[in-house]
Amino acid sequence: MKTEKFISVKEAMEKKKGKVSVRGWVYRERKSNQFIFLVVRDSSDIIQCVIKKEKVSEPLWKAAEKILVETSVKLTGDIKEDKRAPTGYEIEVEDLEVVHYAEPFPVAKDQSYEYLLDIRHLWLRSRKMTAMLKIRSTVFGAIHEYFRSLGYYEFHSPIIIPGGAEEGPTLFEIKYFDKKMYLTQTWQLYAEAAIFALEKIYTIAPSFRAERSKTSRHLTEYWHAEVEVAWFKLNDIIDLAEGLVKHVIKRVLEENKEELKILERDVKKLEPTLKKGFPRITYAEALKLLKEKKGMEVEWGKDLRTIEEEKIMELFDTPVFVTHYPKEIMAFYKPRDPKDPKAALCFDLLGPEANGELIGGSERDMDINELIGSLKKKGEKIEDYSYYLDTRKYGSVPHAGFGMGVERLVRWVCGLDNIKDAIPFPRTMTRTNP
Ligand code: 4AD
Ligand code: MG
Repeated sequence: MKTEKFISVKEAMEKKKGKVSVRGWVYRERKSNQFIFLVVRDSSDIIQCVIKKEKVSEPLWKAAEKILVETSVKLTGDIKEDKRAPTGYEIEVEDLEVVHYAEPFPVAKDQSYEYLLDIRHLWLRSRKMTAMLKIRSTVFGAIHEYFRSLGYYEFHSPIIIPGGAEEGPTLFEIKYFDKKMYLTQTWQLYAEAAIFALEKIYTIAPSFRAERSKTSRHLTEYWHAEVEVAWFKLNDIIDLAEGLVKHVIKRVLEENKEELKILERDVKKLEPTLKKGFPRITYAEALKLLKEKKGMEVEWGKDLRTIEEEKIMELFDTPVFVTHYPKEIMAFYKPRDPKDPKAALCFDLLGPEANGELIGGSERDMDINELIGSLKKKGEKIEDYSYYLDTRKYGSVPHAGFGMGVERLVRWVCGLDNIKDAIPFPRTMTRTNP
């Protein structure tokens, strides 16, 4: 094949007519005596290509006859509109180079979900996975864009940590030379040290949870978007979280219309999130709603379970902030509400359509004695937290922060049944390969 300037399938279709050269992979093939139809995909889109026996050389026809799905090709030909073609255009091939003949591709229709996870490295090429990956990329970009536009610094905390966490039992232990270390669950304790230098910081980094739960919303390795801000109180950090979610949804609706269509996502379900303020209710109000609207009795002091979160969310079409959870069941750093000491100054953001907790955040306790007391109560070793407690000794200030599970958000935006489809290579208790 002559050296050509290749353009993407999308650019070729935008050109509408004339000679084009594209390259990619055969997505579908259909052969008859006189015609070979190849649907070729690249990262931008798919396009039907036709090879007419009477119009091409014999070697080209012979080469094309051996093409199977996922064979990589370069081709040149005339593009024109064709209503019958899957994306409305067709290229009549004049020149074709097979870059690599694929073996019979193991992915076909109607395969089991577990099998598709086994061959995720190949399934990534599917239109739905590709669409999700593009949306995921938009989401990450939008998170960076949001925080940077507000003057936040990107800050990085260690992944390998000596201890200190959200919940001890879900820490992954690692062998670190002759010591035990852990994989981080949150950047938070390090971020709290860094706000004394930078005041407004954010990150997007992997977090790890040794979750034994096999739910549609838990991964053992997930991407965590976290923020920590000096001087912020509960209302400020809630406003920041609402702005973040709105910005990400706005960007996806602007940039990923095609992908949302491929995923058959009903975008109407996302629109209220842009148009309305998110309701803010307290934990006590949530219990009241559960009782009055759903006939469910939850005792004050118990954490909300998935089923209860889902019942609450049936009442709303946007995410909802639930604030002031009981202090006793919260992480040690969440401060008491001075107005109601049994409650903590914290929030969860619950997602609509049964997506559960998207974000968890709080003010941070400034009272060193309260912190030590909570840590002791939870059976933690105070020495492990000495660097953290130092942050409360030298010019401590009010501050607050939150963490958002990026895959939880991607799952909701894309309308996916399972969080495993919101990340390219998922890790769960039972899924470690590929
Ligand atoms: O509520 P979590 O445990 O809060 C924290 O880690 C805080 N230290 C964050 C902070 O204030 N900087 O986790 C935060 C979010 C949850 O709301 C959820 O979206 C996500 O992380 N998350 C998970 N996502 C996927 N799989 C899991 N196993 C997750 N566990 C938490
Ligand atoms: Mg939480």
